[in-house]
Amino acid sequence: MREITLIKGDGIGPEISESVIEIFGALKAPIKWDIQEAGANVFEKEGTVLPQKVLDSIKRNKIALKAPVTTPIGYGFKSVNVTLRKELNLYASLRPAYNIPGIKTKFDNVNLVTVRENTEDLYAGIERKIDDNTMESIKLITRSASTKIAEFAFDYAMKNNRKTVTAVSKANICKLTDGLFLECAREVAKKYSQINYNEILIDNLCMQLVQNPTKYDVLLLPNLYGDIVSDLAAGLIGGLGVAQGANIGTDCAVFEPVHGSAPDIQGQNKANPTAILLSAIMMLEYINEKEIATKLRNALFATLQEGKHLTIDLGGNSTTSQFTQAIIEKI
Ligand code: NAI
Repeated sequence: MREITLIKGDGIGPEISESVIEIFGALKAPIKWDIQEAGANVFEKEGTVLPQKVLDSIKRNKIALKAPVTTPIGYGFKSVNVTLRKELNLYASLRPAYNIPGIKTKFDNVNLVTVRENTEDLYAGIERKIDDNTMESIKLITRSASTKIAEFAFDYAMKNNRKTVTAVSKANICKLTDGLFLECAREVAKKYSQINYNEILIDNLCMQLVQNPTKYDVLLLPNLYGDIVSDLAAGLIGGLGVAQGANIGTDCAVFEPVHGSAPDIQGQNKANPTAILLSAIMMLEYINEKEIATKLRNALFATLQEGKHLTIDLGGNSTTSQFTQAIIEKI
């Protein structure tokens, strides 16, 4: 039995986590969940949104599956996600976006992956008030982090039979910061002659992605552009309910859906657990539990393809529990 940290999160987090627990039970997966709580839910009890025991649990187990947590906009506590990524040095965010059987989308054959630098850029949290009418935020880009994420993207491309890495920037305007990001990507690209390398400006990429997403393969982006573009990519394959992700570091990896805590549908049994299940499949593959990963993927895709038990976001009228039961029946 392998112990894995499961963070239940806020909003729809506990509902989709319950779905994972039930489905993993049906799969007879050799996994023991170390259930941890983080986010707005625990703030009142613990006085922090990210108790030390959660970090200790991930450091001990090395692998975590995380449901989303709420982060208030513009005030209050620091984001759990940003803190987790920093504390555990989860420097790479990996978000594959491909067409899923049974989910109607505008484009077929989308199969791209966003590789996002996860620790710096405008997310470094270096902000200050100059006066009541002026605020400043620092866009921090370093050679070491940019080289590390470029290495990750090319290595991923090699190991996953990908053909092209496209580095994304706004280096025409942010000449020093995005300029350095590109310089590092170019240096790393020289070492990977089997992988094509090209570059695109972020504004052009957004236009290209909504017109012709099938021509992109691996996208390499600094933190902020990566955050935005991975949501855009989620929209191409059926929305946030089906978008998977992972945050990977040298020692630990945290797998999580792209979506947030969806407070608008919290506690209504309406959430789609597909994104967290796809993230769990990525996790199973990462820890080499390939057979169980395939079993889960087959049951999930068969349920989606059959289309009888889809959640509301996918145009169906099933609840989270009904969708979960349908997957369990397939297993
Ligand atoms: P959101 O992703 O929570 O919701 C956007 C829209 O998508 C909502 O209409 C929601 O109902 C829908 N949606 C999202 N996931 C769904 C699912 N699994 N099934 C069905 N519908 C789904 O984004 P929003 O509203 O911007 O953020 C809400 C909170 O989540 C904020 O506090 C934000 O900071 C936090 N957040 C947390 C993340 C994380 O923990 N990794 C990531 C993104 C946001």
